Amino acid sequence: MAEGFDMPLGALMKGKKGLVMGVANANSIAWGIASQLAAQGAELAFTYMGESLERRVRPLAESVGAKVITQADVSDDPSMDSAFAEVEKAFGTIDFLVHSVAFANKNELQGSFVENTTRDSFLMAMNISVFSFVDSARRAAKLMPNGGSIVTLTYLGAERVIPNYNTMGVAKAALEAATRYAARDLGPGKIRVNAISAGAMRTLSLAGISGGRGMIAQGRAFSALKEDTSMEGVAGTALYLLSDLGRSTTGEVLHVDAGFHIIGLPDELAAEA
Ligand SMILES: NC(=O)c1ccc[n+]([C@@H]2O[C@H](COP(=O)([O-])OP(=O)(O)OC[C@H]3O[C@@H](n4cnc5c(N)ncnc54)[C@H](O)[C@@H]3O)[C@@H](O)[C@H]2O)c1
Repeated sequence: MAEGFDMPLGALMKGKKGLVMGVANANSIAWGIASQLAAQGAELAFTYMGESLERRVRPLAESVGAKVITQADVSDDPSMDSAFAEVEKAFGTIDFLVHSVAFANKNELQGSFVENTTRDSFLMAMNISVFSFVDSARRAAKLMPNGGSIVTLTYLGAERVIPNYNTMGVAKAALEAATRYAARDLGPGKIRVNAISAGAMRTLSLAGISGGRGMIAQGRAFSALKEDTSMEGVAGTALYLLSDLGRSTTGEVLHVDAGFHIIGLPDELAAEA
């Protein structure tokens, strides 16, 4: 079995081919999703950012028999051109795309949003975390003549103020709006577009956020289920959205956060009052 959590083998994705963007290591959400898709029979292509990640990504991707393992810097058009050309060459057409890519400079992820947000860093975050989704969706849709399903990853910081999340919260709000606009455009072609709003999870990206560990601890303490968001839960939701199980769902932002987002006043704070 591929490195990952225990996954029941099945055939929900049998005959489906797709691209997973955003595996950096075995903790990446993209990897949790990819290993679930592979366990359900999907054929996979992977793109990763830059040579330094290849050492980690290649063995993971090979463990699920990936047909394409190639670099793609989402902020670089030639790199995206060549990655999608490789996917087309290997698969011809695809059925799904997982976009699990985001970036903001560290100075945008701490302290005062108003004081710390700079033009260049703001635009970079929007480029890598939002425009890349629109660009990837357009490229993927061209390879989906028979319809398909696209999933991206977002966070509650799009809807509510989460300390230090700052520019990334604004980028995620734009990403969620982009999900709805893309769903409307691509709907007639039977391509569904959805976002998973995952609770805080221990990954490389989270490590870049000031107080990231606190986001996990508070996420657990204040969640309805009183537990961490699990990779199984996030990957299972992706499986539902990317398989035919999700065939009537599009333009949706699904919270997979152990019920953290529904709590207005945590018991602990109510008791203090
Ligand atoms: N970890 C969490 O708590 C959490 C919660 C909700 C949503 N998310 C979102 O999930 C997605 C995946 O993040 P993750 O937590 O798995 O962390 P991660 O660091 O494993 O994944 C982020 C990926 O983005 C890639 N990336 C960054 N800049 C890129 C570029 N220019 N070109 C191509 N790829 C680039 C990185 O290489 C990495 O593979 C992100 O959109 C993140 O915002 C994460």
